[in-house]
This record gives sequence, C-alpha cells and structure tokens, in this order.
Amino acid sequence: MNNPTLLCLFFLFYPTVFLHAYSDLETLLKLKSSLVGPSGSGLHDWAAPPSPSSSAHCSFSGVTCDVDGRVTSLNVANVPLFGTLPPEIGLLDKLVNLTLAGNKLSGHLPVEMSNLTSLKYVNLSWNVFDGTLPGEVVLKLTELEVFDVYNNNFSGNLPAEFVKLKNLKFLKLAGNYFSGEIPEVYSEFQGLTHLALQGNSLTGKIPAGLARIPNLQELYLGYFNTYEGGIPPEFGSISTLQLLDLGMCNLTGEIPASLGNLKHLHTLFLQVNNLTGRLPSELSGLMSLMSLDLSINNLSGEIPESFSKLKNLTLINLFQNKFHGPLPGFIGDLPNLEVLQIWNNNFTMGLPENLGRNGRLMLLDVTKNHLTGTLPRDLCKGGRLKTLILMDNYFYGPLPEELGECKSLTRIRIKKNF
Ligand SMILES: *[C@@H]1O[C@H](CO)[C@@H](O)[C@H](O)[C@H]1NC(C)=O
Ligand SMILES: *[C@@H]1O[C@H](CO)[C@@H](O)[C@H](O)[C@H]1NC(C)=O
Ligand SMILES: *[C@@H]1O[C@H](CO)[C@@H](O)[C@H](O)[C@H]1NC(C)=O
Ligand SMILES: *[C@@H]1O[C@H](CO)[C@@H](O)[C@H](O)[C@H]1NC(C)=O
Ligand SMILES: *[C@@H]1O[C@H](CO)[C@@H](O)[C@H](O)[C@H]1NC(C)=O
Ligand SMILES: *[C@@H]1O[C@H](CO)[C@@H](O)[C@H](O)[C@H]1NC(C)=O
Ligand SMILES: *[C@@H]1O[C@H](CO)[C@@H](O)[C@H](O)[C@H]1NC(C)=O
Ligand SMILES: *[C@@H]1O[C@H](CO)[C@@H](O)[C@H](O)[C@H]1NC(C)=O
Ligand SMILES: *[C@@H]1O[C@H](CO)[C@@H](O)[C@H](O)[C@H]1NC(C)=O
Repeated sequence: MNNPTLLCLFFLFYPTVFLHAYSDLETLLKLKSSLVGPSGSGLHDWAAPPSPSSSAHCSFSGVTCDVDGRVTSLNVANVPLFGTLPPEIGLLDKLVNLTLAGNKLSGHLPVEMSNLTSLKYVNLSWNVFDGTLPGEVVLKLTELEVFDVYNNNFSGNLPAEFVKLKNLKFLKLAGNYFSGEIPEVYSEFQGLTHLALQGNSLTGKIPAGLARIPNLQELYLGYFNTYEGGIPPEFGSISTLQLLDLGMCNLTGEIPASLGNLKHLHTLFLQVNNLTGRLPSELSGLMSLMSLDLSINNLSGEIPESFSKLKNLTLINLFQNKFHGPLPGFIGDLPNLEVLQIWNNNFTMGLPENLGRNGRLMLLDVTKNHLTGTLPRDLCKGGRLKTLILMDNYFYGPLPEELGECKSLTRIRIKKNF
C-alpha cells in the first residue's frame, strides 16, 4: 500500500471529484431557489451542510448520485413547485434520469439542457412549460430513451431532430399546443415503440410513412388535431401495433380493410370523426382486439358475421352512426363483453338472447334504434350491470324477473317502448 504512484494518483483525482461534487451541491441549491413552492416552501431538506461535504446533497430527497457524488437522478414529482427550470440545470451533466413531473413549473426549457448528454429518461409531464422545444437541445441528447412532456404548454413545430436519437423508444409530446404537420421524417424512427402526439393542434395529412417504424406498438394521434384526409391504408402493415388511437381528428374516408392485418392490436379508437362506408369484413383478422370504438362517425351497413372471430372483445362502441340490420347473435356469446353502446343507429330485430350470460356485462345502451322482441333474461347474471338504457325502441313484454334482483343497477331507462 506504500505505492507512491497510487498515492500520487489519489491526490491528483480526489480534489477534482470533490470539487465537482461540491458544485453539484451548489447547482441543486440554485435549483431550489428557482423551483419554489407555495409561499417559498418546497424541497425542505435541500440545505447546505454545516461543513463542506462531497456527498451531503446525495441524500436530498429525490436526488441520487454515482460513486463520485455526481447527481445521476433527480426525481421531484407531484409536489407544488412554481417557478422555472434555471440554466444551471445544464451543469448536472451526469444526469441520467430527470423526472420533474406533476409540479407547476413554467417558462421555457433552458437551452443549457443540451449539456445533459447522459440523459436517458426525461419526464416533465403535467407542468406548464411553454415555448418551443429547441431542436438543438434535442439533438445532443443522444442517449435518450424516454421523453415525456405530456400536458404542458409547448408550442411551435414538432422537432424533427428526435428522429436522430437512435435509442429513443418512448416519445410523448401529447397535450401541448404543437402545430404544423407531423414531420415526414418521423417515418425514420428506428427503435420507437410508443409515439403519442394526441391533443395538439397538428394539421395536414397523417404521414403514411409512420407505418415504416419497425417496432411500433402504440400510436396516438387524435384529439384536437385536425388532419386532412383519412387513415393511411399503410397502417395495416405495422405488424407490431397493439394500440391505435385516432379519435377525434377530422378523419374522412373509409376504414381501410388492411387494418385487419394487425394481429396484435388490442385497441382501435376511431371515434368522433367523419368516417364513411361499411365495416370491412377483413377486420375479423384483428384477433387480439378487446376495445373497438367507432362511435360518432358516418359509418353504415351491417355488422359483418365474420366479426364472430373477435372473441376477445370487451368494449364495443358503435353509437351515432348509420348502422342497420340485426345485432348478430355472436355478440351475446362474447365471453368478455362488458360494454355495448349502439345508440342512435338503425339496428333492427331483437337483442341477442345470450347477452349478459357471460356474467360480465356492465353497460348496455341501445337507445334510438328499431329493436324489438323481449329482453334477454341474463343481462345482470354476473351482478355487474350498472347501466341499462333501452329507450326509443320497440321492445315489448314484461321486464325479466331476474332484472328485479339486479342490485348493481344504478341507472335504468326504458321509456318509449311498447
Ligand atoms: C456545459 O458543460 C460544460 C462541461 O461539461 C461546462 O463547462 C459548461 O459550463 C456547461 N454549460 C452550461 C451552459 O451549462
Ligand atoms: C427514473 O426515475 C423515476 C422516478 O424515480 C423512476 O420511476 C424511473 O424508473 C426511473 N427511470 C429510469 C430509466 O431509471
Ligand atoms: C411521467 O410521470 C407521470 C406522473 O408521475 C407518470 O404518470 C408517467 O407515467 C410518467 N411517464 C413515463 C414515460 O414513465
Ligand atoms: C397555457 O396555454 C393556454 C393557451 O394558450 C393558456 O390559456 C394558459 O393560460 C397557459 N397556461 C399557463 C400557465 O401559461
Ligand atoms: C377536415 O377534413 C376535410 C376533408 O379532408 C378538410 O377539407 C378540412 O380542411 C379539414 N378540417 C380542418 C380544420 O383541417
Ligand atoms: C364532419 O364534417 C362536417 C362537414 O365537413 C363538419 O362540420 C363536422 O364537424 C365533422 N365532424 C367531425 C366529428 O369531424
Ligand atoms: C384473449 O384473451 C385471453 C384472456 O384475456 C388471453 O389469454 C388471450 O391471449 C387473448 N387472445 C388474443 C389473441 O389476444
Ligand atoms: C354523412 O354522410 C352523408 C352521405 O352518406 C352526408 O350527406 C352527410 O353530410 C355526412 N355527415 C357528416 C356529419 O359528415
Ligand atoms: C334510419 O333509417 C331511416 C329510414 O331508412 C332513415 O330515415 C334514418 O335517417 C336512419 N337513421 C339513422 C340514425 O341512420
């Protein structure tokens, strides 16, 4: 142990490490003065130690350090902190995980964040940050895997630079005021599994090229975005896709039959658009489908018999369309069906006799159709039925005795029948 070289090395490196750690303490104290809570409170235990220490700041709440006492993780979530993120954040250049979610932070993101080149995980969701997301900041964060700024006040165009980040898996820019078109280059994402752009002010056509993202699993593009045109038929080739949410974004045209190729899709949300035409019978290929919402569109025709293959359906919303014809019997046999809402259509004939026999039915609303016959006996078989709305149809006969014992029912409306 009396090795002079080792000793020498120790003295060479020790002070630098120490100095860096000490300045991380100063940086955190600077952050504290900027991230203020109601009447100056917040981050109570972030305080300078009585004597200089290389690691005192590492035990501040929400702070994690590496062995050198450098800050690697900052996690301050769901505390009311007003104020802004100061430029000094750029000095914490070993930061891997920056989670400042659910506070009340505002202002622009400092460009100094481009110094945080170790960042893998950024979660600034549920704040009121505003201004643009500068591409030059994004570009330098080459290690980034997760970037979540859901529900803030960011505006301007979506930065094209994200596509250069080869490790990026999860990108959530939803719930802001981003405008302009979805950049065509977003088609070149390589590792992205989750893309959420919903709830912005995006316009233009949905780029068909998004279908080229190789491992995409969840795609959210709807809500307040108002696109031109319809659903790109190319989306039927995103073989890894599990969730597609294009609700409420001014889509026109028909539902592409190609979507039926999405064998892993469990959720398809296309509600509140101007979609027309029939339900393609090819959608029976959606063998994993659990939730189907096509409500408030301009769809017509009958429910294809081929849909009897969709055994895992749990939620079916078809209300406010122009569907007609009978409700096929297989709907009564779906083992997991919980929600069936088909109000404001032109469905005829009776309700499937077995409806509710699966013991899972919770919500049935068939208002304003031309349904007739007597009511199925087992609607409340599992004791889970909460809402039963049958108004404005041609049902007749007595209410089944079984319904009288349905203790779970909180809402029932049956007027305007025979
Ligand atoms: C960026 O990092 C370098 C060294 O890592 C540092 O000298 C510089 O002050 C930092 N700049 C900002 C704006 O944080
Ligand atoms: C980052 O920090 C948050 C909050 O502590 C944690 O939930 C998350 O797992 C961390 N992420 C990574 C990649 O370390
Ligand atoms: C970001 O934080 C919010 C609030 O804590 C959380 O709901 C969300 O799941 C986090 N995002 C990611 C990608 O982990
Ligand atoms: C966020 O932006 C909206 C719309 O521009 C504005 O009404 C709201 O006041 C902003 N919130 C804050 C805290 O800046
Ligand atoms: C809605 O879609 C129609 C048809 O594609 C288009 O003409 C119209 O401009 C779109 N509305 C907006 C607000 O973009
Ligand atoms: C459907 O299109 C009409 C006429 O272009 C428009 O007024 C209406 O808002 C659209 N509805 C939806 C749900 O997009
Ligand atoms: C259908 O649901 C069951 C039970 O939830 C699940 O085990 C099965 O994998 C699902 N089938 C498909 C094709 O997703
Ligand atoms: C629905 O489609 C019909 C034609 O089939 C059209 O006349 C009507 O304007 C459409 N309604 C909406 C809201 O787009
Ligand atoms: C139902 O059909 C009738 C006659 O065919 C038509 O006038 C009415 O608009 C249709 N209603 C709906 C909601 O499609």
